[in-house]
Amino acid sequence: MADILATRRRQAEREEKAAEKKGNRKKKEAAIAAQQWMNVGIEALLLEAWRFNPTFPALLRYCPRHEMLREDSRHGTTVPAGSTVLASPLSAMNDPNLFSNPDVFGYWRPREDYMHFGWGGHECLGKELATTVLRELLAHLVPLLQQWNVKPADSIEYDGPAIKRYAVQFVRKPAETGKEGA
Ligand code: HEM
Repeated sequence: MADILATRRRQAEREEKAAEKKGNRKKKEAAIAAQQWMNVGIEALLLEAWRFNPTFPALLRYCPRHEMLREDSRHGTTVPAGSTVLASPLSAMNDPNLFSNPDVFGYWRPREDYMHFGWGGHECLGKELATTVLRELLAHLVPLLQQWNVKPADSIEYDGPAIKRYAVQFVRKPAETGKEGA
């Protein structure tokens, strides 16, 4: 699906350039709108695929004061002063109360429900930048998978709960001969 979206986006980019050359404003705007739609789709696939293996499955927080969390709910709990709290975006993003059927790959889920970049007062300041970079990377990388296989080059290296290094190897697929059974 990401391949279809990426291909359609590239097509819309070409349409935009052609319309620009001809000075056709309406066609140019339509092509830009198409690119934006494809971006939304690529990003939705990215966020959902990432949910199954988030970069930060858990975040550590030091709590200097005695706190009561979610006093209003049956999940309310007290955090004694001086404790370290493990807040888990991985667990939160598999909570069926927010992510219905969490085992299902649901690329239609609302963007704002994801917690890849933390949540609240200390939410990642690079969220939009990082999402844009990853989306563009995906849009350019995925079409290459028609000619290349991606294999892990090494095991994943962790720094605490976060992924520090994940090397992959690109291996060109054998050229198709076009002959059945060749
Ligand atoms: C895929 C890439 C990234 C991921 C998954 C990510 C994730 C996160 C997470 C989960 C937090 C919250 C940490 C916490 O609550 O303890 C955070 C905080 C932060 N991130 Fe990122 N981040 C990414 C890229 C970036 C980039 C590119 C920048 C800067 C250009 C950035 C700047 C920050 C800053 C400044 C904070 C601290 C915010 C605060 O404490 O108020 N991050 N990030």
